[in-house]
Amino acid sequence: LVSGELKQWQGATSEVYSTISSTQDYKPTLLGTVPELGGNEAIEALNAAHEAYDNGQGLWPTMKVVDRIACMETFVKLMKTKREEVVKLLMWEIGKNLPDSEKEFDRTVDYIYDTIEAYKQIDRDSAKFEKNDGVYAHIRRGPLGVVLCLGPYNYPLNETFTLLIPALIMGNTVIFKPAKLGVLLIYPLLEAFQKSFPKGVVNIIYGRGRVLAAPIMESGKVDVLALIGNSKSANILQEKHPKKNRLRLVLGLEAKNPAIVLPDADLDLAVDECITGTLSFNGQRCTALKILYVHESVVEEFNRRFSYKVDSLKFGNPWEPGVKLTPLPEVDKPAYIQELIDDAISKGAKILNKKGGETSENFIYPAVLYPVKKDMRVFIEEQFGPVIPVVSFSDIEEPLDDMAESNYGQQVSLFGKNVNTLSPLIDTLVNLVCRVNLNSSCQRGPDVYPFTGRKDSAVSTLSVHDALRSFSIRTFVASKDN
Ligand code: G3H
Repeated sequence: LVSGELKQWQGATSEVYSTISSTQDYKPTLLGTVPELGGNEAIEALNAAHEAYDNGQGLWPTMKVVDRIACMETFVKLMKTKREEVVKLLMWEIGKNLPDSEKEFDRTVDYIYDTIEAYKQIDRDSAKFEKNDGVYAHIRRGPLGVVLCLGPYNYPLNETFTLLIPALIMGNTVIFKPAKLGVLLIYPLLEAFQKSFPKGVVNIIYGRGRVLAAPIMESGKVDVLALIGNSKSANILQEKHPKKNRLRLVLGLEAKNPAIVLPDADLDLAVDECITGTLSFNGQRCTALKILYVHESVVEEFNRRFSYKVDSLKFGNPWEPGVKLTPLPEVDKPAYIQELIDDAISKGAKILNKKGGETSENFIYPAVLYPVKKDMRVFIEEQFGPVIPVVSFSDIEEPLDDMAESNYGQQVSLFGKNVNTLSPLIDTLVNLVCRVNLNSSCQRGPDVYPFTGRKDSAVSTLSVHDALRSFSIRTFVASKDN
């Protein structure tokens, strides 16, 4: 979708396979083909976005708030008619189970409605005046310009839209390249975009990130790089911009969120929350718990209960009832997880659960590893998959020191009961990460709460309200009279 036109592509294409097999003897399923656009087409999309923005003078950035909201409302209405198709593709393309796929769709719809409401609030606020030192100010929020938007494969609809929707409603124009996995599910929505927004406001291009994003960044015509993915790609793209210091970054990156289980924790609760935290969507979430620190006085009991629960999780196809674990969408992921397991075992760790590491097709059963030490790869690397390192500690300073030394700083889960212990600990933890989850697993939602991170975990904040700020700038009219 470029310049309001759904273009037919005659050039190279690539095939999209699902790691879910539709045959008895395992064979990846061919789901469809997508265009492999080149640099020229990427620049065409960029120019379309640039013209539509027209240095802030275009139809979209100057459009009345009420009209921009009407466009967004049309979009969400059309989008809702595609629920079944998109949910099905979420299951086939990325292996997300049915309840979570439905949740991803519905959460996105809610997110759009909430964004509309938050935008109305900004508009109401802009009608107010402030007075300081005899000067009245009428403060507004305005767009930043052209946004390059790149989303992740694990939430190809929802998280991508947490960039796209606020960017659009604030009056920016967008070039959007869907993630490599979860690419097909944007197709059913192309027409909705085309019918809802003026020409050039949303431009959607298909192909390889490095082929398409590089020339777009090198052009220097992009004002915002909005990316959810890894910091390596974000750094490479940022470096390509000739004026990288004035580029606005909205980035959601890696994390290695720990759980800390204190001696007085409710172990059943901690185990249940750690199961959800480590293994929802097979651990492929930036918010997943990726390392469990358990006090030495309870580690044996925790490990016993936790490993038992891990082994009771049902594996199967995403649409089957009760399925929690599914085939991994990245073909090379099981081999990577196996590498982490082998490395840890070679350095003295054991797999605690009976099924840990069993493989079938593109699936690897989650392995609980213990005792995990600092020299093991799984201690440092963001595994983004089903392997769970457990570390025992005797002094709370041990996990705190590790967190302080980590490159990441998104969230932590803290399990314990004694308020006198928890309270000072929370004060320390909030300076290491951005969200402390008390007796609960880490997560992004509810979407009204700020979603961000320290260090290499994020730049800018995403939440319904914060994202509108991240994609805009405060401007004002000053006057001596009100
Ligand atoms: O992958 C990162 C996502 O932000 C995780 O979101 O906590 O709602 O699953 P979630």
